[in-house]
Amino acid sequence: MAVKAVVLAAGSGTRMKSQVPKVLHDIAGKPMVEWVLDALSSLEPAETVVVIPENADAVVGALPDHVTVAVQHEQLGTGHATQVGIDAANLEPGDSVVVMPADTPLLTAETLGDLVNLHQRTGSSATCLTACVSDPTGYGRVVRNGWDKVVRIVEHKDATAKERDIDEVNGGVYAFDAELLATALKAINQDNVQGEYYLPDVFSILVEEGHSISAHKTVEDELAGVNSQDQLASVAAVVRARLNRQWMQAGVWMQDPSAVYIDASVRLEAGARLLPGVHLEGDTQVAARAEIGPDVYILDSEVGEGARIWYSVIRQASIGAEAEVGPYVSLRPGAELRDGSKAGTFVEMKNTVVREGAKVPHLAYIGDADIGENANVGAGTITANYDGFEKHRTIVGKGAKIGSNTVLVAPVEIGERAFTGAGSVLSEDVSDGALGIERSQQKEIPGYADRRRERHERKKAD
Ligand code: UD1
Ligand code: CA
Repeated sequence: MAVKAVVLAAGSGTRMKSQVPKVLHDIAGKPMVEWVLDALSSLEPAETVVVIPENADAVVGALPDHVTVAVQHEQLGTGHATQVGIDAANLEPGDSVVVMPADTPLLTAETLGDLVNLHQRTGSSATCLTACVSDPTGYGRVVRNGWDKVVRIVEHKDATAKERDIDEVNGGVYAFDAELLATALKAINQDNVQGEYYLPDVFSILVEEGHSISAHKTVEDELAGVNSQDQLASVAAVVRARLNRQWMQAGVWMQDPSAVYIDASVRLEAGARLLPGVHLEGDTQVAARAEIGPDVYILDSEVGEGARIWYSVIRQASIGAEAEVGPYVSLRPGAELRDGSKAGTFVEMKNTVVREGAKVPHLAYIGDADIGENANVGAGTITANYDGFEKHRTIVGKGAKIGSNTVLVAPVEIGERAFTGAGSVLSEDVSDGALGIERSQQKEIPGYADRRRERHERKKAD
């Protein structure tokens, strides 16, 4: 008695007004359909079929390998789509079939589990998920008889005024007995306002044949479908709130969780501190006591214990323990700030190691470089790493002091404890402990100011 799943994703999604197929829209770093498949996976279905429309290669590409794809060539309704789905599945007598749409990403694994448990425990032929909602417009209504038993589901467009007053709606998520579903689907027709094969018609057919059906009531939130950009935004906000609540329960501090955006793939340690405007995406990890924000974007990066980052953009970089970043820093791929190091105001780095305790406090571009332990790189320093053909490396030794406005023309190596003169353009190596300086000697012209003024006054008198 296995559970098999059919996910309906062949609808056109036209109301999204987007080039991207509806089910591939991103929610906290995962496409919508993946949220649905992840919730389903808790049921450990023996088989999962996703029903897609023609020419949906992008959707096929985004689906995991264990999923079977079935193409519904014409959108004739949810009943027809389910038929296409079960035709592609290897159903056996006794199987339970879960059918659900791919556009309800808020549905939890727990609720799906409750639905299937109720279905199997009661030995029902069909079980639907319902909720009482504040505005039932557009939904199918759940019609119950005098004994509170569900007898049928009527679509909004086909409902009488009295039926439209019902606030219990069909969530579009069901569990069925495989054989009874297959037989009942053969009996549905397109005799309704929309001229479609309605899957919910299966319920009244099963009732008429004397089979028992059940309904599992859940909360309104979980059934929220995504049909438009504004629904996508509100669903994403609920997902975000759920994720943030989980992180706070795990000991992460957030000054304002409504302004923190964390992908489902991100990992945080208890004691991490997040201020408003923080976006953590992809394969990002944040250690305890690290304080991030306000206004920081981090993608695929690692942040060490007690690091401090504010007003910055960080991509594929790593930031060591107690390191300081920002304000206004751009760390690009391969930037590696070791423990206790610093990238200060208006600093850009890529493919660079800043070793323990080294500091780049202001206004610098450091690319393809290795900055030694406790070195200090002065304001305005630039690594000229690109000659138009190739990138070259700059090495700054331990404890070296790079003067303000130094241009390090790579390949170049500055020795340990060496100094460079402010304003120098250095294309040759500097030895350990030496001063490398490259600028013209300063001249002094005494009495210049007075002579200049006299010249001006003579001119005026003429
Ligand atoms: C459906 C239910 C309605 C329920 C609502 C809950 C029907 C007839 N009505 O209405 O009772 O309250 O869901 O959200 O089922 N799809 C296909 N192929 C098709 C048509 C639809 O794959 O030919 C897919 C869609 O992509 C979507 C799902 O089926 O994922 C539901 O279809 P949709 O048109 O959104 O149904 P609703 O009108 O919302
Ligand atoms: Ca819908």
